[in-house]
Amino acid sequence: MGEHKRIGILTSGGDCAGLNAVIRAVVHHAVGNYNWDVLGIRNATLGLMQRPPQVMHLTPENTDGLLTMGGTILGTTNRGNPFAFPMPDGTERDRSNEIARGYHQLKLDALIGIGGDGSLAILRRLAQEGGINLIGIPKTIDNDVGATECSIGFDTAVNIATEALDRLHFTAASHSRVMILEVMGRDAGHIALNAGIAGGAHVILIPEISYKIANVCRKIRQRQDRGQNFSIVIVSEAVCTESGELVTKMEQFGESRLGGVGQYLAEQISHHSDAETRVTVLGHIQRGGISSPLDRLLASSFGVAAVDAISEGRYDRMVAWQNRQIVEVPIAEAIANYRAVNPQDTLVKTARGLGICLGD
Ligand code: F6P
Repeated sequence: MGEHKRIGILTSGGDCAGLNAVIRAVVHHAVGNYNWDVLGIRNATLGLMQRPPQVMHLTPENTDGLLTMGGTILGTTNRGNPFAFPMPDGTERDRSNEIARGYHQLKLDALIGIGGDGSLAILRRLAQEGGINLIGIPKTIDNDVGATECSIGFDTAVNIATEALDRLHFTAASHSRVMILEVMGRDAGHIALNAGIAGGAHVILIPEISYKIANVCRKIRQRQDRGQNFSIVIVSEAVCTESGELVTKMEQFGESRLGGVGQYLAEQISHHSDAETRVTVLGHIQRGGISSPLDRLLASSFGVAAVDAISEGRYDRMVAWQNRQIVEVPIAEAIANYRAVNPQDTLVKTARGLGICLGD
């Protein structure tokens, strides 16, 4: 069975469906099969910064029922980089050593960090500088972590966006309108491309392919000329205006966030055609709710593989999904290769083959 271990697990960055399923899988395998102790660290690295470190003992009993549950029972944050931590007086301070001290104070043998590329980069630096044995698990609805075909949360987000398109079809057809759905994804167009094809969109706009409003309007007109009185457009939040500017809005804490390109498109389309437009911004609905079966499989497989890596003493790696296999890759490699949509990707060709307008 090997030596007894005490491991920590934390979720970092934006939440998504499937995080709790990973926590459950780690506990089932580490406690159930290896008889280790598992400590859940609260609110990402913030829990290790606090004194005493904020943790909860995880057991098969208290993680029962987590398979389908959205969010993360541990809490998370996508703010508060420990290397430039925002202080109440408005300054920033490097508090990274407090996190390493928290890890060692808890006498952890290893840490499982579930995060996107930003979180994994921070966790890796903390691990390198603070002597932390780290295993990474990729999660993000954006699906932009290099070295893995799928990250946890992506499939559920695609399902939700697809369902939204399915619903929009009926109301679009009833009112003869152009319905625009704005989806998340940051700089990567994976959600829009996948949901757009699955949900029968007529126009898919993603940041990786530049577009012209005239091409979008031509597609809408062609459909009208054939008696198809409505059109469905899906657009990624990081698609720029035609002149190349990102559309953002100010949020709390003085931070600007992506959002608003759907409205921009609606105005442009109604200005350059006679179509009546309406906009739906799907927002955080894409991150919530019950995880899809595929995300549960991925989360369960990643959780089990991460525990196995620790049992065999392999660290500084991220578990990844490639060709329906779990593999391990150096975290450095995974975060160095950002995974945007490749304009030559099979799904791009599929979209073109279906006559979907990609704006170019
Ligand atoms: O990275 C995940 C993501 O949901 C992006 O798709 C989106 O741009 C961003 O996070 C939203 O962040 P927040 O939850 O801080 O509004």
